[in-house]
Amino acid sequence: MNVVVIGAQWGDEGKGKMVDYLAQNAQAVVRYAGGANAGHTIVIGDQQYALHQVPSGILYPGKTVYLGSGMVIDPQALFEELQMLKDRGINWEGRVFISDRAHIVLPRYRQIDKERDAARKRPIGTTGRGIGITYSMKSERDGIRLADLDWAEKMQDLEKEDLDFLEQYKEKLISMRVNISSEMWKYRNKNVLMEGAQGAMLDLDLGTYPYVSSGLSCSAGASVGSGIGPRKLDKILGVFKAYTTRVGNGPMPSEFDENSQSELYKFVRDTGREYGVTTGRPRRCGYLDLVALRYACRTNSIDDLLLTHLDVYDSLNEIEACVGYEIDGKIVTEFPASIEDLNKAKPILEKFPGWKKSLKECKTFKKLPKEAKNYIKYIESYTGTKIGIVSVGYERNETFILRNPWKK
Ligand code: IMP
Repeated sequence: MNVVVIGAQWGDEGKGKMVDYLAQNAQAVVRYAGGANAGHTIVIGDQQYALHQVPSGILYPGKTVYLGSGMVIDPQALFEELQMLKDRGINWEGRVFISDRAHIVLPRYRQIDKERDAARKRPIGTTGRGIGITYSMKSERDGIRLADLDWAEKMQDLEKEDLDFLEQYKEKLISMRVNISSEMWKYRNKNVLMEGAQGAMLDLDLGTYPYVSSGLSCSAGASVGSGIGPRKLDKILGVFKAYTTRVGNGPMPSEFDENSQSELYKFVRDTGREYGVTTGRPRRCGYLDLVALRYACRTNSIDDLLLTHLDVYDSLNEIEACVGYEIDGKIVTEFPASIEDLNKAKPILEKFPGWKKSLKECKTFKKLPKEAKNYIKYIESYTGTKIGIVSVGYERNETFILRNPWKK
């Protein structure tokens, strides 16, 4: 069975923890898009791991992980990450493979990425990891894939600086290189977890363009990035937080008002530890945006939603969520493509009573306070999508299942 996990908001929804949790029942894990711009945090006991390119499944001894065709691989950052894992006792050798169709990020792309963004009239606020440049080289048909590393003619065309850089990693990359489509064929009767990066609203096509990343963070990307057709995606899970965050620029209609709601803003940011794993930047925070979430559910065919960070709201008397936008005096409940409309949008809020107790000990839906159950039920009915898993803390065991993710 092939299960896809995507972020259903603007990234940082807690995919790392969910993928780690779901990986228990998978024989292989594929990260299908994005690059070192992503940051997945996993907490196991007193150990915290921040992964950027390696799929979270690596933390389970014996599981095989793949970096898929839709990824842009930064070799320097990748081998640093693998070294960090080795130093911490995680033996990765022989279980990390990279698609021969994945593209390679060259060091100077990082600098170009930063310079281009700074020169933009309206900067996107990129992570500066060279991601956009690598994807544009790919669409210009000038990119370098792992498959090209032993194509002598192509390598001769490279500038010396790039060639020298690649020489350091070439043999190691070649030893990890695979045809991901044939690998997936071997797993056709097993469980494979396909891990997305960023989030649906940062997808190049479906997101808040141009304030997006450059890869396929949508569920459709799982098919392209894993070398299988879309009919073989058996289940699509969308991770979302009980509120909304965003890093970088671009519209965020449900963002808290930094002046009039500075306390709420600070409370959510600090309680939810909302600081970027990759760049350390403080994340923008706001109400749960149900208009955007429903749009993500529809455009990605999300079967089940996975709710994280519900415990962040434990101490609030009242919770609000955005159920529509007011744009030029009109009520809008379908997510607009126009950035101008999104910038003008004022959130229409629905109030919910808070539960005022710690959810940490709740191990079943039944044990949740009725106010938390009501919040969950409202989200389900608004989005038309069931909630399959709820996370109430950072630890692996602070999670409970409502619907079996590995059942069709
Ligand atoms: P880029 O992917 O570095 O080009 O950044 C483009 C936009 O996507 C910026 O607003 C970034 O902050 C955002 N972004 C990229 N990766 C992530 C992520 O993993 N989490 C949240 N935002 C991200």
